[in-house]
Amino acid sequence: MTVPGINNVCVVGAGNMGHQIALSAALAGYRVKCTDNQTAALAKAEQFADTWLPGRVAKGKLSEEAAKAARANISFVPGLEEAAGDADMVIEAVLEKLELKRDIFARLDRICPPHAILATNSSFIVSSKLKDVTGRPDRVCNMHFFNPALVMKVVEVVRGPHVSEQTAQTVMEVCRSMGKTPVLLHKEIYGFLVNRILAALTHEALFLADMGIASPADIDAAVEGALGHPMGPFRLMDLTGIDLSYYIATERYQETMDPAQKPSPTVVEKYVKGEWGRKTGRGFYEYDRKA
Ligand code: CAA
Repeated sequence: MTVPGINNVCVVGAGNMGHQIALSAALAGYRVKCTDNQTAALAKAEQFADTWLPGRVAKGKLSEEAAKAARANISFVPGLEEAAGDADMVIEAVLEKLELKRDIFARLDRICPPHAILATNSSFIVSSKLKDVTGRPDRVCNMHFFNPALVMKVVEVVRGPHVSEQTAQTVMEVCRSMGKTPVLLHKEIYGFLVNRILAALTHEALFLADMGIASPADIDAAVEGALGHPMGPFRLMDLTGIDLSYYIATERYQETMDPAQKPSPTVVEKYVKGEWGRKTGRGFYEYDRKA
């Protein structure tokens, strides 16, 4: 069941996270327009929907009707104006670059109806840094999904000081309507809950690899086998994108000038080589095909 007042959802950014967030919303019954200024990314997202939905039906995880309805609910639209013009809610999932997000939020504020909620899926940029480019700070908040967004249940909803109670509650309800488990943060904090905890683990894993104490594969085996995590930190970075790890560390370092926040040599090396994980076919591990 969708949330009253929220019918049209626009997802900006069809990459790693956006294409699955868009599909999750379409499965929940929202009319979704997914947009990206990279035509290749948009085409890949559409292709994913066209193969993933029948795949779920074939696996017996989704009825034919539900798959058809979800496919009918989602469209892939190149222009932001067309995609967001009738949105009741926007979920932005573009690259983790503050200026890019600020530019998009300023444009969304001009394009979207006044009542629309503008949410960001950013992993670490708090909505306080975006709200001032809009005329609706009470409706600008963080709505942070995890990768793969179609599978992971938790969504972090962050209520900055400018966010209205109604906005926070609506976003929580939208998460629930998508079958997710929202967790509410009452204050903004860098990295929110999950990535703060994950960063501590990943930081130590990279330190151990940088020091040559053990290989990434053995560190992963240790974390998976001894701590029971479904994926060790290196396998997980391959999934979320080593480019993302690089951007996050770089932004953090530029902001704090704390040398401990610099991207690790291992991450820099992978980033420079273009070995960004599953999306490039190679990261800490090799993949048969680009996924
Ligand atoms: N996209 C969509 N669905 C996927 C998927 C993907 N990339 N990978 C796996 N799945 C689905 C499979 O289709 C399967 O679904 P069903 O069981 O319903 O058929 C299910 O997930 C299990 O998949 P597998 O059996 O192939 O593999 P698995 O049991 O190893 O699970 C996993 C894969 C769900 C990714 C699991 O390894 C896992 O939970 N890993 C940890 C993921 C994690 O920690 N995510 C958080 C990352 S941090 C983050 O996201 C921060 C951020 O800010 C970006």
